[in-house]
This record gives sequence, structure tokens and C-alpha cells, in this order.
Amino acid sequence: MHVAMIGTGYVGLVSGACFADFGHTVTCIDKDAGKIERLKAGGIPIYEPGLDALVARNVEAGRLFFTTEAAEAVKNADAVFIAVGTPSRRGDGHADLSYVYAAAEEIAGLVDGFTVVVTKSTVPVGTGDEIEKIIARVRPDADVAVVSNPEFLREGAAIEDFKRPDRVVVGTDDERARAVMRELYRPLYLNETPIQFTGRRTSELIKYAGNAFLAMKITFINEIADLCEAVGADVQQVARGIGLDGRIGSKFLNAGPGYGGSCFPKDTLALVRTARDANSPVQLIETTVKVNDERKKAMAQKVIKAVDGQDLTGKTIGVLGLTFKPNTDDMRDAPSLDIVPALQAAGASVQAFDPEGHEAKHMLKHVQFKDDPYDVAEGADALLIITEWDEFRALDLDRIKLLMNKPVLVDLRNIYKPDDIRARGFDYTSVGRA
Ligand code: UDX
Repeated sequence: MHVAMIGTGYVGLVSGACFADFGHTVTCIDKDAGKIERLKAGGIPIYEPGLDALVARNVEAGRLFFTTEAAEAVKNADAVFIAVGTPSRRGDGHADLSYVYAAAEEIAGLVDGFTVVVTKSTVPVGTGDEIEKIIARVRPDADVAVVSNPEFLREGAAIEDFKRPDRVVVGTDDERARAVMRELYRPLYLNETPIQFTGRRTSELIKYAGNAFLAMKITFINEIADLCEAVGADVQQVARGIGLDGRIGSKFLNAGPGYGGSCFPKDTLALVRTARDANSPVQLIETTVKVNDERKKAMAQKVIKAVDGQDLTGKTIGVLGLTFKPNTDDMRDAPSLDIVPALQAAGASVQAFDPEGHEAKHMLKHVQFKDDPYDVAEGADALLIITEWDEFRALDLDRIKLLMNKPVLVDLRNIYKPDDIRARGFDYTSVGRA
């Protein structure tokens, strides 16, 4: 099959490289000439484990191409994927669909013969209908089927998630389009991965409902963690105890500083807007959004309590981990963006380290960025773990203790065992473990 992928952001690049690895011929298209030049030269604009090798292998094999010119690739494509950004619109939380619609217009002018137009971008219910209208307006004679095929890729594990997904969702009633999509996902089909064919609006909603449910699950366990602290229970044991019930499931029950990232915050907000507009509000999700926002801001209080003060005036706080989760350089809606300014507002000087935190340097003001965790510990009145990078699990704690002004450790990801760490002489605060 021939695939044109519009947009070489996170989703487009991973999906394009994986489809090429499935044996299809894929052309990734982006308006950003600098990005395309860089990709052609073997540079990967994002940090995602394994992606550089995957791209190199498929470029070498002559299955993966990069260009700024959509015409040729779209003309030859069996399927054109729209994988452009849908950021939250400023002010109202709706998804901004201008890039999606611009891509649809461009595609409409270029398609030749029956072509499946697939939205990979996360788009609100009804966007597929709109894309269909745009194409019909620009090219009344175009023979296209517009399909919804949401992505469920976790950053840091995106290639694995693409190649070994729990399911693939394909939203279209068009039989010819279903055949093309079946062929595109053939290796998964042969693997007996469930491929759910459904209506387009249903498929669009599955994506939002899935992410909203996961965001709600995290928020639920975060509230239970607070309750554990108040009543003297252990949230990890509670999570295990409830997660072993197959109806609940053990995943996404890690308590922490609140969810962030490029999807959950944006998608929960967009679902809230869609539901309000449809006069069918999703109150659980509205509450989830509110509780999560408040939680991120409240995390600084834990530090104030840990250093036993009214505020943090004159204190130095060492922060380990700034990205919204490990194995990514993504800072979008990272809890650190709320927590660090809250620490500073309470009077603290902040010194920080993140293995991929280059973007953080532009986003956080008045922070001293250090080159490793030990530099961060030096002179600190408390060490705060915000993101659970693996290397923070293997620190030389005796060395850390000697470097710190006071051995106070606030672990917002529960990566250490309370008894172990206290036995080493640390004053230790974690989440939901009284
Ligand atoms: C998510 C979805 O998992 C993926 O299916 C979707 O398509 C895109 O959004 P991603 O944002 O990359 O993926 O990361 P994910 O691993 O889901 O984590 C999201 C946030 O939730 C992070 O801030 C993470 O720290 C937090 N989280 C996750 C928890 O606090 N606890 C958990 O148990 C799981």
C-alpha cells in the first residue's frame, strides 16, 4: 500500500515509520522545511526510544520518504493520514481544528482515484463529517472515504504501542475503506489484534472516552492517596488490592502529582466542551479536570510541610525530573510547570536536573539547571522527585545525603520504599503512604 502522512509530529512520525516497517511505502509530509531537511539527514526531532533506528532502517530500505510537497505522494496514495496538531483553543478549551481542515483542503485538490482519508489526529465527534464536506466542496468529483482511526500511543512506548496494540479502532461504514484499512494493519490482523470496525462518530468518541477514563482513573487513585495519608493507609496496597479485581484492572493506578502530557489535559477539556455543547455534560470528567489542576498546584504544600516551615523563604529545593513523564522530552502540561513556580512563590530557590530537560530550560524561569542529580542535591534543603526517570531509582543515596543541607526527600512518584529510605537517615515524604 502507498501511504501519505500529513504532519511529522509525534504521532505522524511514529505512525509513518511503523507503517513503513509493516512493508508499506510511506511518504511523510510537513510544511516545516527545516524539519524535513533534518529528517532527510537522519535527525529525529523528538526523543522517542527506538525511533531513530526504525526511521533509518526504513529509509535505507526505500520504504520511507520525507518531503514538503504533498502533491505526488497524495496522488499515488491508497490512504492519506491527517496527523497534524489539534491544540486546545485559547479561551474555550475546544480543539483547534484549523490545521486539520487546512490539510483536508489541500488533500482534496490532490487526490486521484479512490483514496481513503484517515484522521489520526485526535478530533472531536463530527470532524470526519466536516472533512467530508470540505473535500466535496473543493472537489465534487473526488472519490474518497473519510475514516477515523485514533491513535493510542504512549510517549516513550509509542513504537511498542503501535506494533502491539490492545486494539485498533477504525470508524467508517465504507466497505472499500475497511478493506484498505485491513490491508494497512495486516501484520496486526494476522497477530489476532482486535480490529474494531465501527461508525465514524463512535470511533471519534472512543478516543476521547478512553483518555478521559484513564485520566479519571488516575485522579481517583490520587484522591484515594490523599485519603490514605489522612487515615493511615497505604495507597500502593490499596491499588494492588482493587487492581487485582479484573473488573478494575491494575494499570493506571499509580498515585502521583497529577496527570500531564499532550493528551489527557487537552482531551479531557475538549470532551467537556463537546458534551456541554451537546447538552449532555460529563460531570465526572469536569470534576476530574478540576481536581487534577488543583492537585498539581497543591504539591508544593507537601514540600513546605516536609521542610517543616510556613513557607520556603531562604530554602533551596533540588528538583529531579521535569518532563511530564520519563523517556520523553515533552514538557506539555507537565506537573513541574505548576510545582516549580509554586515552590518559587513560596520563597524557594530551585535547582533542577532532567535527563531530557532541554525544553524545560525555556519554560521555567529563574531555575538553576544542573548536569546531574548530585549537583542538584548539593546544598539542598529538600530533594523533590517529580518525574520517575529510571536513573533516579539507582542514586547513590549516601552521597546524596552528604551533599544535602538537610536529608529531606519528597518523592511524588513513590519510587523508593519508605522503610529503606528512612533507615538510611532520610526524612522521607511520599504520596499516599502514611
Ligand atoms: C496517553 C495515553 O496513554 C495514550 O493512549 C494516548 O493516545 C495519548 O495519551 P501519554 O500522554 O504519552 O499517553 O502518557 P501516559 O503514560 O498515558 O501518562 C499520562 C500522564 O498520566 C502522565 O503525566 C503520567 O505521569 C500520568 N500517570 C499515568 C499517572 O500519574 N499515574 C498512572 O498510573 C499512569
